[in-house]
Formats: sequence, structure tokens, C-alpha cells
Amino acid sequence: MIATDNVIDAEAERLLKSLMHVDCDPRGKTWNFETCREIAPLTLEINRLKKEKQAVILAHSYVEPEIIYGVADFRGDSYYLSVKAKEAKAKVIVFAGVVFMAETAKILSPDATVVVPDRGSGCSLADSLTGEELRRLKSLYPDATVVCYINSTAEVKAESDICVTSGNVYHIVANLPSRRVLFVPDRLMGDNLRTEMKRRGVDKEIITSDGTCMVHDQFGVAEIAAARARYPGLKVVSHPECPSDVAAASDFVGSTGAMMSYVKTNAAPYYLMLTECGLVGRLQVESPEKAFIGGCRLCPYMKLNSLEKVRDALAAPRPDQIVTLEETMRRRAARCIEKMFELAPTD
Ligand code: 13P
Ligand code: SF4
Repeated sequence: MIATDNVIDAEAERLLKSLMHVDCDPRGKTWNFETCREIAPLTLEINRLKKEKQAVILAHSYVEPEIIYGVADFRGDSYYLSVKAKEAKAKVIVFAGVVFMAETAKILSPDATVVVPDRGSGCSLADSLTGEELRRLKSLYPDATVVCYINSTAEVKAESDICVTSGNVYHIVANLPSRRVLFVPDRLMGDNLRTEMKRRGVDKEIITSDGTCMVHDQFGVAEIAAARARYPGLKVVSHPECPSDVAAASDFVGSTGAMMSYVKTNAAPYYLMLTECGLVGRLQVESPEKAFIGGCRLCPYMKLNSLEKVRDALAAPRPDQIVTLEETMRRRAARCIEKMFELAPTD
């Protein structure tokens, strides 16, 4: 069905209301009525296909804003999206994010067809550890509880006792009965976890593997000092995937969902967001009265998602866009994620 000019204009106006606020992209990407009008036929087509295929689109906050505000049904952080994936009654789940997130959706909703716009959307953390390497580590620390960050492959989840996200890692690890914890695959989050356990007076030995997030690993304290000197009253907000000195120099450290809530409920006028630029774009739309200075970086994997690829994955997915998992591994990985839901804080 070809949309009329009036329908396309109305869709462009709808997109513009959100996208006009986004102005943080290091590639210089911004939106006006003309650019929104160019993408409007695609968002109309995707939204029509969604109904036809009984599909739902989950989008992480780091993907392109035209996906977040144009076609996503749910947008947020890894924990929120895993809850939505578990609850989804849809026949098809399109996961605009990275592959480990789509695998998580498939683990939790095995009867749905889960598709990814781009199979190349990896993650430097998930890609840093194989199931085989984890088995080797486990053999070195047989008494440790194995805690995997959700940014890990399905095979690593299948080998782990419990999964955590950036939003619940401190709470869950603090409440584990065992003293010794093998935390994979994020070494920097492991450092932050160690610091937080000490601060809480919880006696834990945290052993980590050697992965890092290629985006959050780039931030340094010099950037924070320069920004604070220039903007008195500035709030520095960072993600627990950042190095520990960056976390220590920040006013707030939390998941992308918690980072958004912190900004939305804080009165300060200026923020340095030490995370991926997609989150800053969301805040520019949803907290337009606040100012966000420099800082943010792009995740090349998240940015592989595009409206065209979402449309293709929905209309007629290629085999490489469909997530499949071996059933025994899926069940073992599901146990590890269900354990997280059991122990995660309820607020
Ligand atoms: P969140 O769960 O906090 O959104 O983190 C996901 C991620 O990949 C951060 O780099
Ligand atoms: Fe992975 Fe880092 Fe990209 Fe998040 S930002 S998906 S942790 S590479």
C-alpha cells in the first residue's frame, strides 16, 4: 500500500516532535522536517508490517533515534528489555540492539521468532569470552559462584550460575551466599563491583576474566576534570562498565536506565554522560530543558541497526537474521537468567 502525501507529512511531523531535539551525534546527524519526511515511508511500512506479522520491536537506548522514536514498542536498558522479551506474547520479536540481547530474548521466549537487523552487531564484552574459556576458568576456581554479566553469549550464560545486569549486579552479588565469585566477562565492572562490596562492608573475593567494553573503556578522569573546570555545578554520570577511577570521580554510576532516571530527577543544568551517545539522544528528547556537554561515544555495533534492516528482518528475514539456539544450551541459559529474576531487587 502506497502512503499518500498527507499521511507521509503527518508521519514526518510525528517523528520530528522527538527527533528535532537530538543533537549529540559525533557524526553530525540531526533531523529536520525534510529528513523526517525521507524516513517517514519506512517507519509507516515497519509499523504496518508489525501489525501484519504480530511482531513487537524492542530497542536498546543506544540504537539510532529514528528506530527508538519511530518504530520501537519498548525502549530501555538490558534488564527492562529482558523483562519485556519474557512477557512478549508476539509471534515475532525484532531486537534492535546487539546479538547477545536478541539471544537473551530467544532464551526467554523460545516460541517466538526472534530476529536481528544485523548479525554483525556483536559486543566487545560478549565476544571476549567463549564457553570453553569459561569452563577452563571454572576448573581453576571450583568453589566460586559463577556470575555472568548479561553482556555474554548464550553459551557463557549456560555455563554460569546466575546472570546479572548493570542495574542489579551489586544487589545480587552482595546477597550471594558464597564468598568467592567468578565474575565474567567484564574486568572493569568487576573492579567496580569489588569497590562497591568494600563500601558496603560485604566480604567477597571477586575474580574476573579480561573483557572490557570498547566504548566505556575509552573514558578517563582527565575528561571529567576538564569538564568540571568549565561547567561549575556539572553532574558526571557514568556506567559501571567504565574504569574504576572514572566511576570514583562520577556523581552517579548506574545502568543506562538508572542514568536516565538520575538526570530526569536531578535539578542540575549540565551533565557529562560517560556512555554511548544514544542515551544522550534519548535524554535530549525526554529532558529537553537539560544541557549535555561533550563526552559520549558511539558503539559501532549498536549503530549497525537501521530502519532499512529492521524492515527487511520483519518483512522476510534472511537465515542469518533469525536467532536459533541449541535447546539444551537454551534451557541451561534460561535457568541462569531466571535466577536473576528471582534475586533482582523488585523496585
Ligand atoms: P544497560 O543494561 O545499562 O543498558 O547496558 C547495556 C550495555 O551494553 C552498556 O554498554
Ligand atoms: Fe557491548 Fe560496549 Fe557496545 Fe554495550 S556499548 S553493546 S558493552 S560494545
